[in-house]
Amino acid sequence: MKLDRLIAGHHAMGRQAAHHAIAAKRVRVDGVVVIDGHHPVDRFTLVELDDSVLQAPERALYLMLHKPVGILSATKDDQHPTVIDLIDDPDKHTLHIAGRLDRSTSGLVLLTNDGRWSKRLMTAEEKVPKVYIVETLDPIAPDAVAAFASGFYFHTEDITTLPAELVILDERQARLTLHEGRYHQVKRMFHRVSNRVVNLHRESIGSLVLPADLPPGAWRALTREEVLAAAGGD
Ligand code: URA
Repeated sequence: MKLDRLIAGHHAMGRQAAHHAIAAKRVRVDGVVVIDGHHPVDRFTLVELDDSVLQAPERALYLMLHKPVGILSATKDDQHPTVIDLIDDPDKHTLHIAGRLDRSTSGLVLLTNDGRWSKRLMTAEEKVPKVYIVETLDPIAPDAVAAFASGFYFHTEDITTLPAELVILDERQARLTLHEGRYHQVKRMFHRVSNRVVNLHRESIGSLVLPADLPPGAWRALTREEVLAAAGGD
């Protein structure tokens, strides 16, 4: 939303009065005088007019979690524990998940209540790389590397997967970098090369890497730098 609209909406002030107030330097955004009526604001922005608070900022949450195998990437479930159950924060009910993992997959999950941030991070267009360590039932054929790079056609969604980088680490282990997140994507891709995923772990999403000292089940808040870097600035 733009600053002038937010102000005009308060106390039925009207657009013109809002513009006058802004031009007269009576409006502060996050503590700083702003004279541009088109300045972007959202529900996490503090907006003040003279000495009164027009909008108190909501608390923005950005968390990383090391999801253990067996935990659901959902906010609520009647049968299984969810990632939200692992989090201890009074505002955890406001969180949503930016990029789910299957119940059988472990690794990095991001949670936030900032929908614009998670959208920027997760839209395929942004091509944020997601890195997985994959263990397979059968040896990984060397020609799988070229197949993953060319992409696979998924009939259900009528899409061809974006070029993915497969690095074979061992006979049955690989590091896979995807630039999108389709339903069961890693498992379906390995199925196409006549193999089966037996263990899947997400190491990173964009610039955010699961830290070695964050054990399964643990979480921590992202730093401001991490939040900005992950979604390509604000
Ligand atoms: N691909 C999968 O198949 N499962 C996941 O959990 C993530 C990516």
